Amino acid sequence: MATSDQLWKWNLECFRASVLNLVMIIIREEQPSDAAAIRRVILEAFDGPAEADLVHKLRANGKFRLSLVAELNGQVVGHILFTVVAIEDADPSPRTLGLAPLAVLSEFQRKGIGSALMRSSLERCCDMGHDAIIAVGHPEYYPKFGFLPASRYRLRCEYDVPEDVFMALELRAGALQGIRGLVRYQPEFGEM
Ligand SMILES: CC(C)(COP(=O)(O)OP(=O)(O)OC[C@H]1O[C@@H](n2cnc3c(N)ncnc32)[C@H](O)[C@@H]1OP(=O)(O)O)[C@@H](O)C(=O)NCCC(=O)NCCS
Repeated sequence: MATSDQLWKWNLECFRASVLNLVMIIIREEQPSDAAAIRRVILEAFDGPAEADLVHKLRANGKFRLSLVAELNGQVVGHILFTVVAIEDADPSPRTLGLAPLAVLSEFQRKGIGSALMRSSLERCCDMGHDAIIAVGHPEYYPKFGFLPASRYRLRCEYDVPEDVFMALELRAGALQGIRGLVRYQPEFGEM
């Protein structure tokens, strides 16, 4: 059985390791040379190639609005992408982006990398002048970052998805108030 002295040392080591990891995570914009590494991350994080192929198509068609990578010790371990979505019938239409996909290599999941990508990208989207973000995904994950069911804002998804997985976040307070309508993604999403 470990003594309290050993436990204290072990705790200190863990603390140092986590600080080191935090310090070495870099969140930055995607560079042309990152494409292959991003594909590897997405292929590994999701079942099947659909998301990786979608990202390839969106990149080729110039549809990226913001693409960030998480780099740990020089390795790309996470990726997040935003593309423009339209809210049909909303006039004026808030400047809204769709978040998809978000991926972290399984070996590095549950270490805060997804959160770091989320926080940095939401701040950048706000600085870029966007009003709101739409996400389709885990209903237990996105609310950690302030997302609410999009139905609260009377927004509907063009795809047939369960209500709780379709979420929205106001980057500017009130940006989605009084707005209602159908959210349309870039056509490449419909080709998945
Ligand atoms: C979802 C994903 C991006 C999260 O990345 P991550 O680096 O593991 O997330 P974090 O470590 O920052 O986790 C932050 C919090 O969310 C929780 N969490 C992580 N993954 C989760 C998931 N799939 N569902 C619900 N909660 C999740 C963590 O436990 C943590 O909770 P805490 O703050 O209470 O401790 C990652 O698990 C992943 O790539 N999954 C496969 C692809 C995928 O499903 N992408 C999202 C599509 S919607």
